[in-house]
Amino acid sequence: MNKIFAVPLLLISIFLSCKTQVEVKQTMDKKLFGKLADGSEVYIYTLANKSGMEAKIINYGAAVVSLTAPDKNGKLADVVLGYDSLDGYANDKSYFGAIVGRYGNRIADGKFKLDGKEYQLTINDGANHLHGGLKGYNKVLWNETEIAKTGDGASLTLSYESKDGEQGYPGNLKLTVKYTLTNNNELKIEYNAVTDKPTVLNPTHHSYFNLTGDPEKTILDHELMIDADNTTPVAKGLIPTGKFASVANTPMDFRKPTKIGARIDENYDQLKLGLGYDHNWVLNKHQESLPKVLSVYEPVSGRVMEMYTDQPGVQFYSGNFLDGTVKGKNGIMYKHRTGFCLEAQHYPDSPNHPEFPSTKLEPGQVYKQTTIYKFSAR
Ligand code: GLA
Repeated sequence: MNKIFAVPLLLISIFLSCKTQVEVKQTMDKKLFGKLADGSEVYIYTLANKSGMEAKIINYGAAVVSLTAPDKNGKLADVVLGYDSLDGYANDKSYFGAIVGRYGNRIADGKFKLDGKEYQLTINDGANHLHGGLKGYNKVLWNETEIAKTGDGASLTLSYESKDGEQGYPGNLKLTVKYTLTNNNELKIEYNAVTDKPTVLNPTHHSYFNLTGDPEKTILDHELMIDADNTTPVAKGLIPTGKFASVANTPMDFRKPTKIGARIDENYDQLKLGLGYDHNWVLNKHQESLPKVLSVYEPVSGRVMEMYTDQPGVQFYSGNFLDGTVKGKNGIMYKHRTGFCLEAQHYPDSPNHPEFPSTKLEPGQVYKQTTIYKFSAR
């Protein structure tokens, strides 16, 4: 090639390759997080957006390890609970940051019937099946399917192939979860699944949020609004009775922003059964258009989190089982009610309640869910 052209071409290509590397680095980073007992490597991925928010996700349990969000002065702080190392996640009993499944929430006695056949799932919560059983999707290694930078933001897609019979569920299920940290300060979670036999499916995301940015503080002063007129009340073991109950004139009414702690210790049967809030709210709006279904405001930092989803329900759990015995990030022992979960999902125990929206997935159908946690401050 003529030297006159070769030199500028070389310079242009060096410039382009540097530019690409810098852009990728700003939005996505991948590092070894640790090794499991069998030697398999677990990676931690960092997604960053234009305003400096960062989401760190591992491919073990597809768990969100940290998520920073700005306060009213623009100061970023980590707003989710989690662990510093893989050991924490491997031994975790709280589902910190994970994707839970195949069925998030409870199935009574771990039993259900599908097309006339009875299935027995593993039991891991008293007499019941919870969050996918003894080894749910929070305890498995997911595959990295795609790392991408789209117009929407940086994204990480993880996938898991759950075998026919795993934890008692019928059908080989292929599930993908795509996390996107958008430039609109949203953590967007998109689920996709197919099966080769009829099965039931209800995956959800289990981050514990504390919008103060200081997990040594409780979440009781956070103001919560849930756009729901009803809950599905529970009996012992937190299994729904099958009825719907109006929230009006009860401590379950969050239709107007109310402090989580305002009524949590009232002498109310549902709160006694849940040891606080641990119930399913029947969302008034649930459409594919992703309506806003709830918001949380933390008055000191000014942080706001809104949730948008196409799911019919949300499990609001106020961290009642945290008891100061779990050592989290930075050596902090997570005390009672220092994190809350807002798990977009179908109602608990739906396979045993034909009156609830169905969680059945058949071969040929594609399961889809989108849930967005959006952050701002005021
Ligand atoms: C869910 C359940 C709770 C509890 C937590 C994890 O939110 O509803 O009862 O099991 O997960 O501790």
